Amino acid sequence: MPVIAVIGGQWGDEGKGKVVDLLAEKASIVVRFSGGDNAGHTVVNPYGEFKLHLVPSGIFYRHTVCIIGNGVVINPAVLISEIGQLNERGVDTAKLFISDRAHLIMPYHILLDGLEEESRAGKALGTTRKGVGPAFTDKAARLGIRAGDLLDKKALLERLRFILEYKNIILTKVYEVNPLSLDEVYNDYCQYAERLAPYIRETSIMVEEALNKGELVLLEGAQGSLLDPDFGTYPYTTSSSPLASGGCLGAGISPNRLNHILGVFKAYCTRVGSGPMPTELKDEVGNLIRERAHEYGTTTGRPRRCGWFDAVAARFTSRINGFTGVAITRLDILDVFPRLKICVGYKLDKQTINYFPASITALERCQPIYEELPGWQAPTSHINEYDKLPPEAKKYLARLEELIGCPVKLICVGPRREQTIHKTPIL
Ligand code: IMP
Repeated sequence: MPVIAVIGGQWGDEGKGKVVDLLAEKASIVVRFSGGDNAGHTVVNPYGEFKLHLVPSGIFYRHTVCIIGNGVVINPAVLISEIGQLNERGVDTAKLFISDRAHLIMPYHILLDGLEEESRAGKALGTTRKGVGPAFTDKAARLGIRAGDLLDKKALLERLRFILEYKNIILTKVYEVNPLSLDEVYNDYCQYAERLAPYIRETSIMVEEALNKGELVLLEGAQGSLLDPDFGTYPYTTSSSPLASGGCLGAGISPNRLNHILGVFKAYCTRVGSGPMPTELKDEVGNLIRERAHEYGTTTGRPRRCGWFDAVAARFTSRINGFTGVAITRLDILDVFPRLKICVGYKLDKQTINYFPASITALERCQPIYEELPGWQAPTSHINEYDKLPPEAKKYLARLEELIGCPVKLICVGPRREQTIHKTPIL
């Protein structure tokens, strides 16, 4: 009963989509377990290039069941459009399912995400404004509407009437904007219900059955561990847990089923949105990384902040997730640099520390302590065997492995499936 959780080890955008697309070939189920359409998983395969926001990255294999788990918040309009676009490009979605327990993003969530961000002014979190935070807030506040509620339109109307009355007070009295119309929202969601009903079911049983048959299940993380509300750079985080433990909860499986936890890291660091990032480079090196890697948000198009690999942060996320293996992506982006830096500690005020502080004011004061390694200055994106990598690239990877404290299993040298080096088996 192997389960592999594919988890972002940094601030998201590590290339989890590519890794899941690769591993899904042997999987019977892929479950997206957290986040919402704030995520943008890029997959390049024989069907073309795709930017998936809600549909799991295993969708390209006919034999693989794809589940949007209970831990995801779903904007039904976005999901319907994503399904439509996949179908138009020849990708079958007959094996896609939605947990009846997954919460829905409602129009007031999207409105409030924007209004709350604007009211934070200089302290804005830089959210994707997709309504994800407000939807998770309502989940915790017991004011959510779930996918299963779409299956009973009478109950949906009652629930919506009750919640919308309250939301309209906030919209009109606090933010002084127009209220939302119950009829309009209800009618829209009834239409979404017609389209999505065939996909909605109790999905945790499907996962349980596959595991009992000894089949491979993948848990597809969204965002990255440093955006976790507990362990990330709070309050500059997302609002659901991208950690492996969040995977059990968001897919509906017991933690004792989870035996392989693959941490995905870029060979450098990026972050999009506000909040501290100790190795951020605001110079030509950072710009060069951004332009070479086209580091612009998949969901929002915002330029990503780029910097050297932060091994202090990586060791921390490896520990809290319990990574059993690591995938290093986008190694080829570093092909041109004569020298490479890895952050191995922080200078905090006058002290040297080797842990990731909980306090963001402390993290903002942390100055990276770098170790320098020679670059390889040779193209790597055609290489698919570890032994054929330049010696400096192998040294760089070996040093990352040592600092993270976890074996490197996969190395990606480009977006396509075949641009992958399988160093050691994952299972
Ligand atoms: P939210 O999840 O839209 O509320 O945004 C909260 C923070 O998480 C912001 O800094 C976003 O830029 C960041 N974020 C959310 N989703 C992603 C993602 O998929 N990749 C990278 N950053 C993300």
